Parts: sequence; structure tokens; C-alpha cells
Amino acid sequence: MSKPPIVKDAYALTSAEAVKELYRDWAVSYDIGFSVSQGYQIPREVALAFFGAEGVGPVLDVGAGTGLVGEQLAALGDVTIDGVDLSAEMLAVAATKGHYRDLIEANILQPLPTQQRYIGIVSAGTFTLGHVGPEGIVGLLDVAEQGALFVIAVNAEHFESAGFAAMLDDIHNRITDLSFKDIRIYDDRASEDHVDDMARLIIFRTV
Ligand SMILES: C[S@@+](CC[C@H](N)C(=O)[O-])C[C@H]1O[C@@H](n2cnc3c(N)ncnc32)[C@H](O)[C@@H]1O
Repeated sequence: MSKPPIVKDAYALTSAEAVKELYRDWAVSYDIGFSVSQGYQIPREVALAFFGAEGVGPVLDVGAGTGLVGEQLAALGDVTIDGVDLSAEMLAVAATKGHYRDLIEANILQPLPTQQRYIGIVSAGTFTLGHVGPEGIVGLLDVAEQGALFVIAVNAEHFESAGFAAMLDDIHNRITDLSFKDIRIYDDRASEDHVDDMARLIIFRTV
């Protein structure tokens, strides 16, 4: 069997097809082989920030993957959670955990196949190099209720290089209470080349 993907492979993706292929191979080993072994801590940080800002459901977990954010939301509070992800295999793992009402297999860069509107939108690990850029956040405004709380983690290098600040400027009249929190992506268990990687939580409400 070939080796599971590593973070460097994920950062180098260039298309939705490549994303699907990589996560097809990663789904089964992701939680233990990646998240636990690297001390991946963004899902918990996102859930803490969400409840810290008095978030309520229904919540959409964007790029839900194997459901690590859902696990943390369920551990810290009581909210209805839906998840969306490109990868059927990642969502199949999330489904086994029993925290999601609905799991939607879709590309968030296209209009989402749901009539549901959300009062919370969260994301971890999806707005990163080789994955989704700032336009993904603009699209999510269409599935957000008025007053919806967004807590979106963005890889810090991606935040700078992909123009997230300019996007936030462009949508300034559609959002309020904008704040940021800079966090480590991993704890000290991470490999030497990623142990200092940072993410920026973008926190705001829609108007
Ligand atoms: C690093 S994983 C993060 C999964 C989970 N949120 C976590 O923190 O463990 C990134 C996820 O984003 C998904 N993804 C990437 N691009 C996407 C897109 N355009 N639309 C939907 N999901 C996408 C991938 O399939 C993958 O499951």
C-alpha cells in the first residue's frame, strides 16, 4: 500500500480533482496518523472561539473532513451541525461519529445544494495553501442568516499570499464585529518543518 499523504502534499494541490484524490487516500488514517500524531489543534480553537462569541446553531462546518470540528463543537456545547466537503471518503468517516445532522458532498466554490440557512459558519484546515482561497468566504455569505457568526481558520501564510485582507475589505459593508485571533496550528508533537505554523481565526457576524 502507498504511504498516506503528508501536509506538504496537501499544500501543493491545484484542483478540486486533486483535492478529492488526496483526501480519498487520507480519510482512513487522517485522525490518528495526522491529527493526533501532529497535535493538530485548530478544530478545538475554532470551537472555543465559536462558543466564546456566543455562537448558536444550526452551524455549517465548511470542509468538515472527518468531523474533527463537529467533535469539538459537540464536546463543548449543544448545537445542530451540518458539514460540507468535497471528499465523500472524508465525510464517510465524519458520519460514523454521529455529530452531524446532514453531510453534504459539494464544492464550496460553487452554489451549495441546500436551501438551509445557517446562523453559524465554522471552518478548520480548509482555507489553506492548495485548498480554498478568500472567494470561498464570500460565497458562504449566501448561506448565512442575518447576524450569523463566522469563525474561519485561515493558514497564516495563505492569509497573506491569497489576499484575505483585501476580501474582508471588499465585504466590509456585509459584516460587522470583525476580529482576529492568531493560533498555532499544531502543538509540540508536530514535525520540525510545521511545528511553528500559524493560523488566523477570522471572526465576524453578517449584517
Ligand atoms: C485539512 S482537511 C480539514 C478537515 C477538517 N475540517 C479538520 O480540521 O480536520 C481540508 C478539507 O477541506 C476539503 N476541501 C478542500 N477544498 C474544498 C472545496 N472546494 N469544497 C469543499 N471542501 C473542500 C477537503 O476535502 C478536506 O476534507
